Amino acid sequence: MIRLENITVEFEERKILDDVSFRVNDGETKVMLGPSGAGKSSLLKVVLGLWKPDVGKVFVDDIEITRLSEREQMPVRRRMSMIFQGNALFDSLTVAENVGFFLEEHSPMTPEQIDKRVQECLEFVNLPDAGSLLPEEISGGMKKRVAIARAIAFHPEIILYDEPTTGLDPINAKTVTELMLKLKNERRVTSIVVTHILRDAFAVGDSLAVVSDGRIVFDGNAHDILASKDTFVQEFLSEIREEASLLFANQ
Ligand SMILES: Nc1ncnc2c1ncn2[C@@H]1O[C@H](COP(=O)(O)OP(=O)(O)OP(=O)(O)O)[C@@H](O)[C@H]1O
Ligand SMILES: [Mg+2]
Repeated sequence: MIRLENITVEFEERKILDDVSFRVNDGETKVMLGPSGAGKSSLLKVVLGLWKPDVGKVFVDDIEITRLSEREQMPVRRRMSMIFQGNALFDSLTVAENVGFFLEEHSPMTPEQIDKRVQECLEFVNLPDAGSLLPEEISGGMKKRVAIARAIAFHPEIILYDEPTTGLDPINAKTVTELMLKLKNERRVTSIVVTHILRDAFAVGDSLAVVSDGRIVFDGNAHDILASKDTFVQEFLSEIREEASLLFANQ
């Protein structure tokens, strides 16, 4: 379970996150929607413990991570993984080395155990033969799947996805969406997914929140969001619907 209570983050007296509260129950996926600059990636960084909020508390289960030192956070951090907006793969390492990187650095596993785990992770994302390739030799959709393979190497209970399908064509986006569902259904992973693609939001989200100017302006399910009378929510939905129809019209 992830719970945020009244989170505020300020940079140079500007509130990037402003009194944000929500919870994600075990095994559920929460989608964060919102325009560019709204604070979605910042929110994930707070959940991951990379940023300390100026005000408010973050709980993972009943552990308040906001009060812990870097060192004390480690056991909780290990239970979480993040798929970054730009994948953050190491260009000079092979796919297999990328997937095994954090295991080599932070686990007591032997090289043989690591090789076996890396292969399992690559099989999970349906890239069993890609281990020896370099990131520059694979497509954008494959890179995203490698990033997911690396994120699951530690068997995380919580995965934070920052725009996992942005920039992918619909077929690759569907593959990534299916992987997110597989992690949720087969491994009961708890997730927060940042996206501005409505189709993907509805495909993976048990609940959806809309962020605007650092504040949560909507929090509910797919039915509620479509029925919302909030003008910002309605305008935002119609904008992304329009974007989606343009995208489809061009294909
Ligand atoms: N390290 C930082 N220092 C100062 N301001 C920052 C920092 N990181 C982000 N911001 C500001 O915080 C606000 C929210 O940024 P954030 O990256 O969270 O938005 P976002 O919703 O993820 O946008 P996008 O959809 O473009 O990824 C922006 O105004 C941004 O300029
Ligand atoms: Mg972002």
